[in-house]
Amino acid sequence: MTVLVTGGAGYIGAFVVRALREAGHRPVVVDDLSTGHASAVPDGVRFGRVACGETEAVARLMREERVDGVVHLAALSLVGESVRDPGRYWARNVGQAAGLLDACRIAGVRRFVLSSTAAVYGEPERVPIDEDHPTRPTNPYGATKRAIEQMLGHFRDAAGIGWVSLRYFNAAGAAPDGSLGEAHDPETHLVPIAVRAALRGEPRLTVFGDDYPTPDGTCLRDYVHVIDLADAHVRALDWLAAHPGEGLVCNLGGGRGTSVLEVIDAVGRITGRPVPHEIGPRRAGDPSVLVASVERAREQLGWTPARSSIDEIVSDAVRWHARS
Ligand SMILES: NC(=O)c1ccc[n+]([C@@H]2O[C@H](COP(=O)([O-])OP(=O)(O)OC[C@H]3O[C@@H](n4cnc5c(N)ncnc54)[C@H](O)[C@@H]3O)[C@@H](O)[C@H]2O)c1
Repeated sequence: MTVLVTGGAGYIGAFVVRALREAGHRPVVVDDLSTGHASAVPDGVRFGRVACGETEAVARLMREERVDGVVHLAALSLVGESVRDPGRYWARNVGQAAGLLDACRIAGVRRFVLSSTAAVYGEPERVPIDEDHPTRPTNPYGATKRAIEQMLGHFRDAAGIGWVSLRYFNAAGAAPDGSLGEAHDPETHLVPIAVRAALRGEPRLTVFGDDYPTPDGTCLRDYVHVIDLADAHVRALDWLAAHPGEGLVCNLGGGRGTSVLEVIDAVGRITGRPVPHEIGPRRAGDPSVLVASVERAREQLGWTPARSSIDEIVSDAVRWHARS
């Protein structure tokens, strides 16, 4: 299958490109390099430096390359920034997705995999969170992803585009050989921040609140190894090939909760260096527990989060950060 990967120069996208090649597919990358890195795109992969919502240019590329399916990762994804600048998030995330889906309609591409997020659920009513949990996003970032999911239904009706929306929980980890990993700027994710703090001593890590109703008082999150995530995209494309014109939502997580202090402990153990950190106040809008039910991904995609123990995630991240 030839697969257009938007955001293929970003953290998760680079792993999706790698997984597609390993599975014998042919990725084509579209990325505007707003947060990604051209060096993450391997030699031999066609790379169009263009915004994914440029309908005409993307439809042309789809036709030239005879694209069979799309994995749409390109997005702005900083929650705090989305609260401060919602217009940019709606224009970029939702507007660009509409342009991309129009390109699919024009070029006759009928398989579409979306990078969605646990942020579509908002404050959980129950955990683990399954896909039937109500979606009430509490920030513009989550709302834009939910809006794109709704748009997928409209394009399925109008143009027969089958879709899978993958709602990731916390992506983390790196290639075990240290060849590929997370390089966000600014970095807002706990694992890389803790690893950098351990290896370089700065910046110090702030734990946002230790008075939550959890065993150690810090928030529980669900970490999923980026290699497990990438594997799910290949499976989602296979699912679409077997279920033309259908739609599916799947959570992707490790299926277990790990507290902030447990991550800090794992990084300290694995690096042999304590993580310098301090306890700060709670951050507005942080739910105490976010843990995925991953039963549907198991049943429908045959997927398991095989590498998503916190020790494996942290060990791989440490190798990457020690090299980079
Ligand atoms: N990292 C996580 O834990 C996590 C969790 C849930 C969902 N997600 C989603 O996964 C996707 C990838 O996240 P990531 O952590 O790899 O982010 P990233 O910033 O590393 O990658 C995003 C890539 O998309 C590109 N891009 C952004 N807007 C674009 C546009 N309009 N046109 C073309 N290219 C564009 C960027 O240059 C970058 O290479 C995002 O959609 C994000 O919302 C990530």
